[in-house]
Amino acid sequence: MSPHVEVCVTTDVLVVHGGAPLHGEIRVRGAKNLVSKAMVAALLGDGPSHLYDVPLIRDVEIVRGLLELHGVKVTDGAEHGELVFDTSNVERANVDEINVHAGSSRIPILFCGPLLHKLGHAFIPDLGGCNIGGRPIDFHLQALREMGAVVDKTPSGLDITAPNGLHGTKFELPYPSVGATEQVLLAAVRAHGVTELRNAAVEPEIMDLIAVLQKMGAIIKVHTDRVIEIEGVSRLRGYKHRPIPDRIEAASWAAAALATQGDVYVRGARQADMMTFLNTYTKIGGAFEIEDPGPNSIGGIRFWHPGGELRATALETDVHPGFMTDWQQPMVVALTQARGLSIVHETVYESRLGYTEALNQMGATIQVYRDCLGGTPCRFGRRNFMHSAVIAGPSKLMAADVVIPDLRAGFSHLIAALAAEGTSRVYGVELIKRGYEDFEAKLAALGASVERG
Ligand code: EPZ
Repeated sequence: MSPHVEVCVTTDVLVVHGGAPLHGEIRVRGAKNLVSKAMVAALLGDGPSHLYDVPLIRDVEIVRGLLELHGVKVTDGAEHGELVFDTSNVERANVDEINVHAGSSRIPILFCGPLLHKLGHAFIPDLGGCNIGGRPIDFHLQALREMGAVVDKTPSGLDITAPNGLHGTKFELPYPSVGATEQVLLAAVRAHGVTELRNAAVEPEIMDLIAVLQKMGAIIKVHTDRVIEIEGVSRLRGYKHRPIPDRIEAASWAAAALATQGDVYVRGARQADMMTFLNTYTKIGGAFEIEDPGPNSIGGIRFWHPGGELRATALETDVHPGFMTDWQQPMVVALTQARGLSIVHETVYESRLGYTEALNQMGATIQVYRDCLGGTPCRFGRRNFMHSAVIAGPSKLMAADVVIPDLRAGFSHLIAALAAEGTSRVYGVELIKRGYEDFEAKLAALGASVERG
């Protein structure tokens, strides 16, 4: 057991009696990485906004709290999972109260544009989020400065103003960052003039944010080759939006089905957002069946282990349409069960393989490397980061006590514990609540034998 276990609160532990396949049906709702941004976008509207299918997860609670601190009235709508945002009284928030949220999420940085437009000032606390690398915000700040913002770094956070308002600009991102692309979108929609963003991220969640902004009255063109052009408008209205489903959660349950030799129907999962994942799933020997949405069903995807041995593969994480970095950790657990040597090259975050240590503790054979293995050289190859892994399988996983380091790695620990023979104790499971709604109830629905320690 790692020395960190001693410092964990004992109630934050899940006791997992593993070794049995997961069988059954669960439902995924709106994508965490769209919902939280759509909530921020509501700030830009002059009228109320309605967001449906919002999952009850910690990140949503944090953004809700931040919006409320800025005078937005957030209420539950008539439909289950509907949130209504009333922005008629947006006001400056108390810095001490904002700072209560310091370190809890990455989303506050996206409040810059909307708050500058509404109030001419934004205070952004120190950011948090998962500990998976340096996670700088230099692209965000550079883009905001190009648009006329003045950023003052204070000991407690960032103090941002725009003395002459925000204006359009031409900006090329050094890397297609999801957050920085969202930053530019949320700032440019109400800036004076036209903004041209080059090397933009084009993840489905970004396209869905663009859909939200278009409903609000924004004018955004998505050109080929990662170019997004935004014509600023002076006013935006509220929106009504049903988000795309959470493709990260869907893939996590799909990997759990494979790793435990189970059969899981993920209601709400959508093929269009998961094409790359589904290709890999097929290559390694997993089976799936897609149910398209119909008049009486939202559709979904059934994922299962068809029996026999899984096959090793080489995969490289990348920006969309590549294999998502957030699919990597659950998939690696499934790859511990595949025959042969699998290679994983993580090219999005420099430090996202630390969790493999816990898998090795459970009997996996995973070696991490500094080199760019199995793919094209990436930004991390010459910078001494352990960002490639070789997984030798199949390995019989055995129960262990493990500590969750971050959200997605945490879910992979959970999957490994479910696949392992015996009783594991998984510490720090509250972290999983940041991005997986009701995961304990879902585990129960799939027949998993788990209880709080
Ligand atoms: C979003 O993070 C997601 N988070 C992440 O999901 C996801 O892994 C990531 O996009 C990639 O898809 C949310 O949407 C809340 P990035 P984001 O900016 O926007 C570098 C999860 O578990 N970079 O695309 O923060 C950065 O260091 C989370 O749900 C800079 O160098 O990711 C990284 O190497 C984890 N400077 C790369 O770009 C910057 O200013 C991609 O990061 C910004 C980013």
